[in-house]
Amino acid sequence: LSSNARCEVRASTFQGISDLADINWDNIGFGLVPTDYMYIAKCAKGGTFIEGELKPFGPIQLSPSAGILNYGQVFGTQHILFLHQLDVNSLFQGIFEGLKAYRKEDGSILLFRPEQNALRMSIGAERMCMPSPSVKQFLEAVKQTVLANKRWVPPPGKGSLYIRPLLMGSGSVLGVAPAPEYTFLIFVSPVGNYFKEGLAPINLFVETEFHRATPGGIGGVKSIGNYSAVLKAQSMAKANGYSDVLYLDSIYKKYLEEASSCNVFIAKDKKVTTPAIKGTILPGITRKSIIEVAGTQGFEVEERLIPIEELLNADEVFCTGTAVVVSPVQSVTYHGKRVEYGNKGVGIISQLLYSELTRLQMGLTEDKLGWTV
Ligand code: COI
Repeated sequence: LSSNARCEVRASTFQGISDLADINWDNIGFGLVPTDYMYIAKCAKGGTFIEGELKPFGPIQLSPSAGILNYGQVFGTQHILFLHQLDVNSLFQGIFEGLKAYRKEDGSILLFRPEQNALRMSIGAERMCMPSPSVKQFLEAVKQTVLANKRWVPPPGKGSLYIRPLLMGSGSVLGVAPAPEYTFLIFVSPVGNYFKEGLAPINLFVETEFHRATPGGIGGVKSIGNYSAVLKAQSMAKANGYSDVLYLDSIYKKYLEEASSCNVFIAKDKKVTTPAIKGTILPGITRKSIIEVAGTQGFEVEERLIPIEELLNADEVFCTGTAVVVSPVQSVTYHGKRVEYGNKGVGIISQLLYSELTRLQMGLTEDKLGWTV
């Protein structure tokens, strides 16, 4: 059977089970809800991924010397300050992706621009000296995993199925070197809103001591190390009542980079601006989509360096990401000074862009751009 045919067979097998998992769909946040199946494929260093398989969701076995365990979280943020010119290729051999599946009213399931995640994974894998699945393999694996878990795709309007593809060095290493074997794994979980504020605007703390990424490093790829690097600053900010941290560039400590888990945009005088991608900022797929949607909505859109002063003087600020979608910002705090945005952060532009994007993602509007699958 071809993979597509297998997907159909699996899909029809799952028709028999009650259509939806028996959970409280009104009460899902952004935490792991274990589902039925995960997808796993393996490949040797220098090899190519061949087809993987669906297995019941659960723990995986790894050698204590697996590349991912030994070199996946080796640096904390503090160390990153000293990494300016260092080649860190093989030190974070783990990258991931994040995308979502939405259920439409007619029961069918939509993926949003999954080929963009496949491309980003292959670009990230090249940076990290890892083999990656082809775009076709990635898409088929995502489809198989979603179909096998389709009873976990929330009903329309109740959230989405978050899809987490992971690529990791699973073979044993001891010296710092690319691992001899790689695992491509996908698991899924139904999710609701990312921030505890729900859809309410968030409050950001502008971090001036810790940095997320440095030029020449790996801030521009979706490496697991980028996320362990933000945990300390994020925990401190949350302990002080903020929703998240907004990072500045590590050289001049002046230009906006991104938040812990999302990109940032400012709007001023009907112009929408976001930091340009320059190796330290994740090329978010929601970021890219919002740039295009804002253009079609008649906004002037700029990608460039944004000095902190422009953030403080903006009319509106919002964050974008697969997990956070479009999150308006109520306030930013910089060097102890809190700046509040109008209408408690509920800005007209961010609301419009949120609505345009999510209507597309949920299949509520005609997909003229061919973004949904
Ligand atoms: C996503 O938006 O998919 C991300 O990868 C952010 C994640 C760290 C929650």
